[in-house]
Amino acid sequence: MNATQEKLKIQLEQAIVAAFGADFAGVDPILVSASNPKFGDYQANVALSLSKKLGLQPRAIAGAIALKLDVSEICEPPEIAGPGFINLKLKTAYLEAQLNEIQADPRLGVPAAKTPKREIVDFSSPNIAKEMHVGHLRSTIIGDSIARILEFQGHDVLRLNHVGDWGTQFGMLIAYLREVYPDALTTANALDIGDLVSFYRKAKLRFDTDAAFQETARQEVVRLQAGAEDTLHAWKLLCEQSRQEFQIIYDLLDVQVIERGESFYNPLLSGVVEDLEKSGLLVENQGAKCVFLEGFTNREGEPLPLIVQKSDGGYNYATTDLASLRYRIQQDQAKRIIYVTDAGQGNHFAQFFQVARKARWIPDDVELVHVPFGLVLGEDGKKFKTRSGDTVRLRDLLDEAVSRAYADLKTRLQEEERQETEEFINEVARVVGISAVKYADLSQNRTSNYIFSYDKMLDFKGNTAPYMLYAYARIQGISRKGDINFKELGNNAVLLEHETELALAKYLLQLDEVISSVEQDLLPNRLCEYLYELSKKFNQFYDRNQGVQVLEAEEPQRTSRLILCDLTARTLKLGLSLLGIQVLERM
Ligand code: ARG
Repeated sequence: MNATQEKLKIQLEQAIVAAFGADFAGVDPILVSASNPKFGDYQANVALSLSKKLGLQPRAIAGAIALKLDVSEICEPPEIAGPGFINLKLKTAYLEAQLNEIQADPRLGVPAAKTPKREIVDFSSPNIAKEMHVGHLRSTIIGDSIARILEFQGHDVLRLNHVGDWGTQFGMLIAYLREVYPDALTTANALDIGDLVSFYRKAKLRFDTDAAFQETARQEVVRLQAGAEDTLHAWKLLCEQSRQEFQIIYDLLDVQVIERGESFYNPLLSGVVEDLEKSGLLVENQGAKCVFLEGFTNREGEPLPLIVQKSDGGYNYATTDLASLRYRIQQDQAKRIIYVTDAGQGNHFAQFFQVARKARWIPDDVELVHVPFGLVLGEDGKKFKTRSGDTVRLRDLLDEAVSRAYADLKTRLQEEERQETEEFINEVARVVGISAVKYADLSQNRTSNYIFSYDKMLDFKGNTAPYMLYAYARIQGISRKGDINFKELGNNAVLLEHETELALAKYLLQLDEVISSVEQDLLPNRLCEYLYELSKKFNQFYDRNQGVQVLEAEEPQRTSRLILCDLTARTLKLGLSLLGIQVLERM
């Protein structure tokens, strides 16, 4: 709900009381955005719901409320329509005043959160010695955008990278490298990540087929957990190697995240098991310690256990998550913890959340949210792979997007007979390529799967990054053409006359609503839709035929329209920045 809706709601509530008495205090006026501009901007539908209680016709009720309604500063006189709706149309003078206000506001009318909270966004979280895959890319892009939005709203956000840097896989990897490439365990940068990944695969194969090797690998895990110096040193080298590789991706994407991997919680794992034991939830099942879950069953329909400690004493992924959850509540003082992973991990989160709740580790004011997302598919609708059938390396994927953007730009420059420096071309290609990948991801409802298509995401038409970036650059072009400094336009100068001006103005004023909805539902695609719709409204306004003249217009219209241009550009820039997308002044 935006500021205007809030004001209207309060006035309606008062009018209801004035019309029907104090018994009706707190009745929801059921204020909604009008479905059609011919009904005005908002409609209050409360009369229908009061009809029974009052024993009156809804139209009569609506009339009685409208009579007491004091909204003359905001709206034209209310109209009663249909079976008993109160239609409200915003006054042009009110809209103008609102726009003048947001023009002077760097936040463009979006109020910061009234009660800032400590929030954790757990995202990206790739695994050491394994390559970051497209799932991690989605997590990184979506998590970063969510974090940016919460930060913008004034929350105290902790961005955490829950890297998979601990566990049995290190036993096999180290045991294997000891045999085939011991240098990698003592010398920094002896491997690149590609080698590391292929060694990991081979180690896993050995582990699955060779009992003696399995035993050596297990011992290596024990040594690691006991802190044996050489094993620990080897582990650190391997982590460092992966970390450098991850960092390349984060730099390309301009993403900040604090690494706090699974190993960080290692010392807390035994405490988790002890405390579950104390709370009476722990059950021994074939030597493993577990908690039985409600609402989850195995194939035979028997209750499913969540194993927190295996019979060999080792801990699981979920145990680490339980430990990290407690740490985040107790030490980090988080009030909302957001986990951004693929939808396939939905059960994992539901299960350990359940165990933590049963153990009473979650205070009432703490919210746990799993933010799931769907798969990235190849153009054939199947799993996303390279032509040769391998998993796609993220670096290659991003490089490919940039080099395609580069080629497109070269062609466009030639067509337009423009001369640009190589530096300019490289910068535009980089921004367009990276933004295209991000925007293609964020503009989808994250819960659905989507098809990864370079052609689509780099298209200048449609709901794409290039389209949005172009809309922004085009507006900057107006300021260049007219030799105007948007920052020096007059204040209090907005005038709304033409239909397309009004439509654009009303849309500009909805940014706060969109951002607060994303803050709640954590669906960045809503912001994408808003920005896309905004550019369309702008194009209608700026269109030679259906819209208005801007640079050629007379004063005072000229300044007013330039302010609308500037507000649109600033809204695009702010909105895109919340998606992790940088704008270009020229492209
Ligand atoms: N490393 C995991 C994976 O690659 C994701 C971790 C997500 N965060 C968490 N707290 N479990 O699937």
